[in-house]
Amino acid sequence: MLVIGNIPEFRAARAALQGRVGLVPTMGYLHEGHLALVRQAVAENDHVAVSIFVNPTQFGPTEDFNSYPRDPERDLQLLREAGGALVFMPPVSEMYPPGFQTYVEVTGVSQGLEGARRPGHFRGVATVVAKLFNIVQPDRAYFGQKDAQQVAVIQRMVADLAMPLQIVVVPTVRAADGLALSSRNSYLTPEQRQAAPVLYRALMAAKALFDSGNKSPEALRQAMCDVLNSEPLAQVDYVSAADASTLVELDSPTDRPILLSMAVRIGRTRLIDNLVLS
Ligand code: PAJ
Repeated sequence: MLVIGNIPEFRAARAALQGRVGLVPTMGYLHEGHLALVRQAVAENDHVAVSIFVNPTQFGPTEDFNSYPRDPERDLQLLREAGGALVFMPPVSEMYPPGFQTYVEVTGVSQGLEGARRPGHFRGVATVVAKLFNIVQPDRAYFGQKDAQQVAVIQRMVADLAMPLQIVVVPTVRAADGLALSSRNSYLTPEQRQAAPVLYRALMAAKALFDSGNKSPEALRQAMCDVLNSEPLAQVDYVSAADASTLVELDSPTDRPILLSMAVRIGRTRLIDNLVLS
């Protein structure tokens, strides 16, 4: 496994590769969710590149950039086992050298949900992902359904800017109790960790309502809120039932796929989760 921290060396290693290259962009502190992306990329490509970069531009000024969990040695060991051959692990100065002043801004789909609560977040995500695509030049790039709006933003960017690669979406990997795996779960105390599956239970309650024939978006949102409000440690940031392709909040039933999503604070940790109904 090659671990490279600067762009010219990475480009040289990339240029030596024959066949299809899959890219898995990450911020590290890898867990089984990230590894599901890596394993799928290994199965579908001749070579797999994994980037590990905690991207400062996607964190707001009051967010957890400095305290974001990091463990590069453990990450590299996990990648060795999973078969990611080429690791790009640049310092911040390599991705954002002095004088950097170019950003990618996806409008529409960036604006609601996470985008409304985290101003500038998707501008940072789109910018770093576009730069990673330029450096790695992958044939395919792998993203988790866990971050549904991120997927929508990246798909929009790739289509709008005619980027020559395929975006592959991988289902959310969950713990046995339903909690979506996330690097930020490491912030939870044991008591908070016990409360955290309430997000999944809320999604399942709305799904049960939908499957029983109640397709009212307001009823779906209410079903999620009722479950979330039953957990004293959970503070709801938002719940949403939106059109899964435009991410516009629904006010009446639709035959198109519906994205149920939510952000919930448990202590100082902000958790997100989602489910598509169709
Ligand atoms: P990060 O949070 O490290 O996630 C990297 C990738 O792993 C993302 O595509 C994310 O959706 C996916 N992922 C995380 N948890 C998952 C789970 N439980 N199941 C399936 N996939 C999961 O997302 C980012 O980093 C950054 O925004 C990035 C795209 C790297 C740009 O900086």
